[in-house]
Amino acid sequence: MEDLKTRAIDRLRQLESVVLPSLLLCDFGDLKTEIARLEQAGIQALHLDVMDGHFVPNLTYGMPIVAAIRRLTQLPLDVHLMISNPRQYIAEFVKAGADSLTIHAEIEDDVAELLDMIRQHGVGAGLAVNPATPLDGLDAALDRCDLVLAMSVQPGFGGQKFNPVALEKLQQLRASRPNVMLEVDGGVNATTIRRCKEAGASLFVVGSAIFGQPDYESAVAELMAALES
Ligand code: DX5
Ligand code: ZN
Repeated sequence: MEDLKTRAIDRLRQLESVVLPSLLLCDFGDLKTEIARLEQAGIQALHLDVMDGHFVPNLTYGMPIVAAIRRLTQLPLDVHLMISNPRQYIAEFVKAGADSLTIHAEIEDDVAELLDMIRQHGVGAGLAVNPATPLDGLDAALDRCDLVLAMSVQPGFGGQKFNPVALEKLQQLRASRPNVMLEVDGGVNATTIRRCKEAGASLFVVGSAIFGQPDYESAVAELMAALES
């Protein structure tokens, strides 16, 4: 089973541009329909925003919802752990069905060691970096991750304004870490997504620019068109 999970993250690695809807602003009262609508819109992976109300001032969901989403779709599940103590939950999120687990550089733990632990579970290991956090001093962690998530908003809420500091980090990482997949998250929409691609991202997390729209298919088509413009 673990080999299959590794292939999920490697499936994403083969794709030039992947829009990942962030399951934060979706209708949690009807996940089955929401996920079917996203698949119908051509979505190839989902981004799950797990928040603990401690690392970020918002509280969303944990393993039971990840497991429920796993039962609803075969799409790769890119799980963003905005939690203070991911060490305690790595095995459980993998068991729930995560295909990649992204932890934050800002937590009070040995991030490099945790990234190794995540990879030992056979899933993709991601490192998220908040807008105010520089890349300096992260080399040990960067040596151990499959993807880097450059936050273009302060994590915790959807619908915030895009912070272009993420573009500088993407460019820096594109040059220094050509083998690491680059992901951007926060305020990504039809006007900001192209700059993110040009800066080096291939994974684009989108919340309100999809879930704030009446029709997911046209919202995704607009994002894909902007990527190619
Ligand atoms: C913020 C989350 C993002 C957010 C994106 O903490 O990590 O994934 O939901 O939402 P938008 O695209 O609306 O900024
Ligand atoms: Zn996120």
